[in-house]
Amino acid sequence: MKPILVLLFPLVYSIVASAQTDTKGMPSTTKIYNEEGKVQMTIFYNPSCQCKIYSEFFGDGKLLAKRVFKLVDGKEVVDGEDITYFHDGSIQAYKKWKDALPDGRFYFNHEDGRLEHEEFYDGKYKTGTWKYFDAFGRLVREQIYEPRTTLWNSKKDNATVKYYQNGAVVKTDKVKGTTLSGSNATTPSPAVITTLDGASLFRLKCKACHDPESPSYGPAVKSFQKKRKEAWLYQWVRNADELVAAGDKDALALYQQWNNKKHPSQTKLTDEQIKAILSYLKTQ
Ligand code: HEC
Repeated sequence: MKPILVLLFPLVYSIVASAQTDTKGMPSTTKIYNEEGKVQMTIFYNPSCQCKIYSEFFGDGKLLAKRVFKLVDGKEVVDGEDITYFHDGSIQAYKKWKDALPDGRFYFNHEDGRLEHEEFYDGKYKTGTWKYFDAFGRLVREQIYEPRTTLWNSKKDNATVKYYQNGAVVKTDKVKGTTLSGSNATTPSPAVITTLDGASLFRLKCKACHDPESPSYGPAVKSFQKKRKEAWLYQWVRNADELVAAGDKDALALYQQWNNKKHPSQTKLTDEQIKAILSYLKTQ
């Protein structure tokens, strides 16, 4: 028999803490519910491997993330696969850990399944050539790490950065002690719900075309029109073509101004995710 703990408090942290006492003997599953009474996370304890598997779910019950922790002297240490999924079940981020250190290749995909970027780790160091691709699959940047000089969780990178345009290097930088973008492989904490936040969503879905400061494929975030209504923004992000087709004059003006570039529709984003992105944009 698996004892199922049904807990209904909104205080997730205290629930996770209370689940930690149950570390010997029988397998068990702890379920954590959100305010709407839906399962937000399950924690499966397997005594045979002395490990815990944390699974997080989207609002509609689909799997959002799954990661494994092993228990060392009663403490949870991240060890094993750590995967975040898109709503359609495809992989958004793949990480693997060994004794709380990143292990080998991490990769991050665009929603259409194309590679967004990849990272490599050697023990406690960043290593190899990290490649970054835009929403169209074009190589935009390489970060080449000097062997065994940049710690895996350091924000001070020691690398050569090559920028590409149309398949050719347009700029090469040697960086030392500079923060380069990338995940910095933050250790997942079992006690923190990692539902995608606005900043990460923006990085994954929008940043390829919207630089914070300067115009790129699309307008710079700082020059986004502040006067747009919330409802309009939802619709724009979800399906701008529809707005244009309906003759919305703001949408038409934008398309005209930007040479009729189609705005990518994001039909897979949930309302909560769009809300998170829009709140993030307000802070920019
Ligand atoms: C493939 C490139 C691309 C991606 C990805 C993209 N955009 Fe855009 N965005 C554009 C372009 C180009 C425009 C200018 C209008 C046009 O032609 O579509 C634009 C315009 C906008 C505007 C209107 C700005 C204003 O002045 O009112 C908003 C808001 C916006 N995008 C938000 C987003 C958000 C949020 C995301 C991510 C969910 C996103 N975009 C992803 C290319 C993109």
